[in-house]
Amino acid sequence: MTTPIAVVTGASSGIGAATARHLARAGFEVLCAARRADRIEALATEIGGRAVVCDVTSESSVAALASAAGPRVDVLVNNAGGAFGLAPVAEADADEWRRMYDVNVLGLMQVTKALLPALVASGAGIIVNVGSTAGRSAYEGGAGYTAAKHGTKVVTETLRLELYDQPVRVCEVAPGMVHTEEFSLVRFDGDQARADAVYAGVPDPLVADDVADAITWVATRPPHVNIDELVIKPRAQAAQHKVHRTS
Ligand SMILES: NC(=O)c1ccc[n+]([C@@H]2O[C@H](COP(=O)([O-])OP(=O)(O)OC[C@H]3O[C@@H](n4cnc5c(N)ncnc54)[C@H](OP(=O)(O)O)[C@@H]3O)[C@@H](O)[C@H]2O)c1
Repeated sequence: MTTPIAVVTGASSGIGAATARHLARAGFEVLCAARRADRIEALATEIGGRAVVCDVTSESSVAALASAAGPRVDVLVNNAGGAFGLAPVAEADADEWRRMYDVNVLGLMQVTKALLPALVASGAGIIVNVGSTAGRSAYEGGAGYTAAKHGTKVVTETLRLELYDQPVRVCEVAPGMVHTEEFSLVRFDGDQARADAVYAGVPDPLVADDVADAITWVATRPPHVNIDELVIKPRAQAAQHKVHRTS
């Protein structure tokens, strides 16, 4: 039997790296894609996968990813993404908004478009888009990110309609608060104290492995089973704004 192929974008840290590890354990050969070569090379060596340096916002870079993946891809996890800044709309930075739309929506579209023929060719492909609870509600200062993640959600829904007669499932895994090393650090431009404050006093935020486990479960259902969307939050987060903190 041939080894199934999975492509994970944003595999150099957090949820993407954990997902690459979980999928490798589940028997996939994983193509680990991200911009930082050293990190994905180390990960690929660890899990017996392949590293492909890729910026999902660059068409030529994505074309190179598709050609590295080859004619058959079984699983695509569109995980590359992120938030930049937390300014209210009145003080919004248009460049930050553009970068968020670029990576969370256009990047996802470009990778999906480039790998779609290989997903169809597998005969039982699946696309798992990593959205967010930010794609379901609003919070002050979050408009640039929530708008982009609402975009991720709607593109996922559209794709499912467009591919209804194709052998490709389309799913969205939408996490709430996940304590990854870099997400908030990137959002606050390297300000560690501000990043730490996001998770301060929360008894148990999700960790990358929790989300990776959910993505891997979604991706390993029988081919006729489509999990449309899976929202996953820590127990302490009843809603985007209602987070239990002990201090
Ligand atoms: N952490 C949370 O609370 C949370 C909650 C809900 C949803 N999410 C979503 O989950 C996903 C992963 O988040 P995370 O917490 O794991 O964050 P993270 O640790 O900051 O990971 C983001 C990943 O995306 C990659 N990336 C960023 N821009 C890219 C680009 N242009 N091309 C290719 N790769 C790119 C980064 O790698 P390079 O810098 O090496 O390219 C990195 O591997 C994101 O889509 C995020 O929006 C996170």
